[in-house]
Amino acid sequence: MNDKIIIFDTSLRDGEQALQASLSVKEKIQIAMALERMKIDIMEVGFPISSPGDFNSVREISKIIKNTKICSLARCIKKDIDVAADAMSVLHDFRIHVFLGTSNLHMYSKLRKNFDEIVDMAINSIKYAKRYTNDIEFSCEDAGRTSIDNLCRIVEYAISAGATTINIPDTVGYTLPHEFGNIIKLLYEKVPNIDKATISVHCHDDLGMAVGNSISAILSGARQIEGTINGIGERAGNAALEEVIMAIISRQDILNVHTTIKTKEISRTSKIVSQICNMPIPANKAIIGSNAFSHSSGIHQDGILKNRANYEIISPEIIGLKAVKLNLTSRSGRAAVRHRMEQMGYKDSEYNIDKLYVSFLKLADKKGQVFDYDLEALAFINNQQETPEYFRLEYFNVKSSSSGSANASVTLVCGKDIFTESATTSNGPVDAVYRALHKISGYSILLQKFQLFAKGKGKDALGQVDILVEYQNRKFHGIGLATDIIESSAKAMVNVLNSIWRAKQVILTLNKNI
Ligand code: KIV
Ligand code: ZN
Repeated sequence: MNDKIIIFDTSLRDGEQALQASLSVKEKIQIAMALERMKIDIMEVGFPISSPGDFNSVREISKIIKNTKICSLARCIKKDIDVAADAMSVLHDFRIHVFLGTSNLHMYSKLRKNFDEIVDMAINSIKYAKRYTNDIEFSCEDAGRTSIDNLCRIVEYAISAGATTINIPDTVGYTLPHEFGNIIKLLYEKVPNIDKATISVHCHDDLGMAVGNSISAILSGARQIEGTINGIGERAGNAALEEVIMAIISRQDILNVHTTIKTKEISRTSKIVSQICNMPIPANKAIIGSNAFSHSSGIHQDGILKNRANYEIISPEIIGLKAVKLNLTSRSGRAAVRHRMEQMGYKDSEYNIDKLYVSFLKLADKKGQVFDYDLEALAFINNQQETPEYFRLEYFNVKSSSSGSANASVTLVCGKDIFTESATTSNGPVDAVYRALHKISGYSILLQKFQLFAKGKGKDALGQVDILVEYQNRKFHGIGLATDIIESSAKAMVNVLNSIWRAKQVILTLNKNI
């Protein structure tokens, strides 16, 4: 069996210390429980000396987490070590992590000590921490900028003093992968007692190299990787553990190591961390971004349908997602449209793919993304040349003031007819317009989400409104774009009314055919 990589999560320490608002004990426990479900090997849950709140959360987490080893951070100061041990005292097996700056910059301008004094502090604190536990991690802070001779010397002394894990942090995210890998390689070559400890790395992402540096360190012999979920952490963050884990799994051919992480929990854990920490995940973020497994271009969608391996190196199920997502937009090919129809249970003989594809493209141009209910509706009415837009906004007029109610009058074309209705509300002009539209359509709609985005800059900017509504237990999306945000809001709702109308045509056609 190839070597196991120990996954050390510091989301609740390095990650949490970088958040704009610190987390409550309850929130930290939620994250700790998600990490435990994911079978993280070790979690660093705080720096207990830093505040009574941190001490308390380490204590509470220690009472709850049973299957992941708990670790707390301490400076090379007796009081820090005592407090860290006290916070974890309910446990009989825990890790104390002591750290000390070893680069010239940190030694002289931060700690104002020479190297011999630093070595003494490290040895004394490791020996002191041993009274509480045998599991001691020692970090050479700013190791990436520490001279290799000093690094080798302090690592050798730390191991002799009893450190069982030696952590080599690239604290400021300065090194490049080949350079960082070489530091680990030199440690293995030059430190005589190196085999008595596990070598760990802790990389920051200031140059976007954190994951690359961690992988390079594995190739040189590191067997513990530190990082955080979603890469949260000081400044540009830490190595994103989900990326490290999936690289280990996907490139076993080269790395020749393994992990015991429950990868199916990755997606869920990432969402929990993102929500609780209020740190949104960019759509294109590796592994966990919403676009990481969705395919948009026609060529890619066609390739995926022929063989997922064409454009997919990781199957989304591994991280706990359902399946690849083919976004149906005007760039989608007919293969993607046919595939979606097949997934919805339609046989080829039940619709005409050529006609469906033409009307699909027209709708996609107008709407952007085409959803299942649109496609279903188009399939039933594709004998018409034009995508039918039953409702069309003809005119609206709104009056509102900061102190009073808002009033809207709306004229809507409905097929061959035209209707005008008005409504008054204390909830502002958009609500007044929506009430008037609902009076005309007769659809009883529940607005679930309303989002407004500015498209473009300055006075030429357009307001895009995206809404999500529920109608008879089905969800419908609508988009409206205009320079006037009331108009874009109205258009988004008219967009929804048309989707509902088309869905109703499907039901009518089905009933007729029975
Ligand atoms: O980045 C760093 O050096 C750290 C240490 C405390 C390990 O976070
Ligand atoms: Zn760090």
